[in-house]
Amino acid sequence: MTKKNTVTITDNRNGNQVDLDILDPTIGSPTIDIRKLHNELGLFTYDPGFQATASCKSDITYIDGDKGVLLYRGYPIEQLAEHSNYLETSFLLIYGHLPSHVEYYDFIGIIKQHTMVHEGIKHFFNGFQHNAHPMAIMVGVVGALSAFYHDSLDINNPRHREISAHRLLAKMPTIAAYSHRRAHGLPLPYPRNDLDFIENFMYMMFSVPSEEYKVNPVAVRAMRLIFILHADHEQNASTSTVRLASSSGANPFACISAGIASLWGPAHGGANEAVIRMLEEIQHPDEIPKYVERAKDKNDDYRLMGFGHRIYKNYDPRAKIIREACNDLLDVLGSTNQPLFDTARKLEKIAMEDDYFLERNLYPNVDFYSGIILKALGMPLNMFTVIFAMARTAGWISQWLEMMEDQEQRIGRPRQIYTGAKVREYVNLSKR
Ligand code: ACO
Repeated sequence: MTKKNTVTITDNRNGNQVDLDILDPTIGSPTIDIRKLHNELGLFTYDPGFQATASCKSDITYIDGDKGVLLYRGYPIEQLAEHSNYLETSFLLIYGHLPSHVEYYDFIGIIKQHTMVHEGIKHFFNGFQHNAHPMAIMVGVVGALSAFYHDSLDINNPRHREISAHRLLAKMPTIAAYSHRRAHGLPLPYPRNDLDFIENFMYMMFSVPSEEYKVNPVAVRAMRLIFILHADHEQNASTSTVRLASSSGANPFACISAGIASLWGPAHGGANEAVIRMLEEIQHPDEIPKYVERAKDKNDDYRLMGFGHRIYKNYDPRAKIIREACNDLLDVLGSTNQPLFDTARKLEKIAMEDDYFLERNLYPNVDFYSGIILKALGMPLNMFTVIFAMARTAGWISQWLEMMEDQEQRIGRPRQIYTGAKVREYVNLSKR
């Protein structure tokens, strides 16, 4: 980035002025560097939800929400979805370039080396209630990894950072599958390193010791797509949480655990699960207008889950890719969930023709379709957000690694507009 221009801010109360640099990104909106503002004018800026505030510089992911563009390290998501796989995409996000042949196979070998978890970690799963949500287990167990892998916890050592990144990426599917199996009283299998990343996850989820496990190529293809599309999405809520947690020097396992907690909310990663719950509640396509009216009613908090996006105001490019895959898959797998899928298709059509949704640019987002795909694949509902968390781990650790090398980063410490009481005198309890 190069300094190009300035903007002058005038405080109209007293005429004081400050010139602020405008920073030009490689592509995207120019950004005002406001760091001098407080020192020179004594002013802060107010931007709840960071709608117009860049919190960092990043080389990793670029989004143009108006044009529906998403690039990982410069590569369009459409190309990666068509040609790449999750581990290659993870390498790209982490190291910044597509791996050479040697780098690719080395990376796969390293990740396979780390797929098992310490035997002591397995005890944690017995400590949870049988009906614990797997995301609750993920938050706890991923954070607990920091109690086991002390040999890679020096965040100032680049090699330690890399080992922790590999461990997180490799162990996530194992922890995720165990969080599901615990609830169903199933034994915890060891990972199978003869299978690829996605196949191994499906094996750990669905295999039983009494039968041979057969990989379903349709399911693996759909999961591969979901993983690539969810791998990173620049400074979203969970990624910003990871960065904010790390800014204090916390270890990567704790920071990724914080990211998982943030992802869990229904406005973010919890949306794919919420989509199916919504479709189940609607029950029949004939009931859709009632729910659409509720979503439009200003006096009702109800929202259509899987619609809308903070950044994409034209269309979500991931939704465009996954919509096709979703339709293909439903044509192949339809069956028992057919009424639910009919409701989904009709809801999509009705909402996309309704002025309320059109005027507000509320299109189905990636989670609308990923929820439907996961349901069609027989994935348990409470695992949907866990799958998002596994996929997003590549992005979280890339962003964390980048941040650890960024000389401009300081502890994250937003300011506030204080609206409470002015100074007042303490009154003794006996006099109150
Ligand atoms: N259903 C009905 N109305 C909606 C919806 C929705 N899903 N989403 C937004 N709106 C309306 C709001 O009521 C508001 O209307 P108004 O202008 O009349 O007041 C307008 O659209 C703008 O909404 P905001 O909340 O200001 O938009 P914001 O950018 O803050 O929120 C968000 C984006 C959180 C994704 C929102 O659209 C939403 O809650 N969607 C449903 C949950 C969801 O699918 N989340 C997944 C996001 S994608 C991801 O995490 C991968």
